[in-house]
Amino acid sequence: MNGPARRPGRLILICGLPGAGKTTLARRLAAERAAVRLCPDEWLAHLGLDPHDEAARDRLEKQLWRHARDLLRLGQTVILEYGFWARSEREELRLAARAMGAAVELHYLTAPLDELWRRVEARHGWGTVPITRAMLEQGAAIFEPPDDAELSRYDRPENEEAPHHER
Ligand SMILES: Nc1ncnc2c1ncn2[C@@H]1O[C@H](COP(=O)(O)OP(=O)(O)O)[C@@H](O)[C@H]1O
Ligand SMILES: [Mg+2]
Repeated sequence: MNGPARRPGRLILICGLPGAGKTTLARRLAAERAAVRLCPDEWLAHLGLDPHDEAARDRLEKQLWRHARDLLRLGQTVILEYGFWARSEREELRLAARAMGAAVELHYLTAPLDELWRRVEARHGWGTVPITRAMLEQGAAIFEPPDDAELSRYDRPENEEAPHHER
């Protein structure tokens, strides 16, 4: 039996390298928008798993995405704080969410490498993943930043007229 019709939800993707400010922004958006924030780094820590275990991270991200779709079906706003280094990864989720009738936002955060490194060294707290400068540089070398054409394919943040490029 079908339940009551619900307004489809809204998916918010947070994209950026370590230190870009993803967790800071996601916490603010979660409070402002009454959203559910799903942060793999924190889940891996709570589950006692190695944050550098890529197979575990991959399984966790897939499971959190299943959970996110359940929440979107119920009309919730969901924030995925995965980093989304690859364009194909962003496109897959954007298209899947749109197919469900959900709105999708992409928030892209960036800063110069030296600033990212300064922030990585400064960040602390539960679920913070320790990384080396070499790991950050390797990430920066393969990171695919969203361009204006890609950003234009997303919905604008609700109640905001500014573009979604944060800084
Ligand atoms: N826009 C910003 N400008 C300066 N420092 C920031 C900014 N956003 C976050 N930070 C600081 O940088 C560090 C890393 O931020 P965090 O949100 O944990 O980044 P991420 O989740 O992308 O690794 C934290 O100490 C945070 O307080
Ligand atoms: Mg973070």
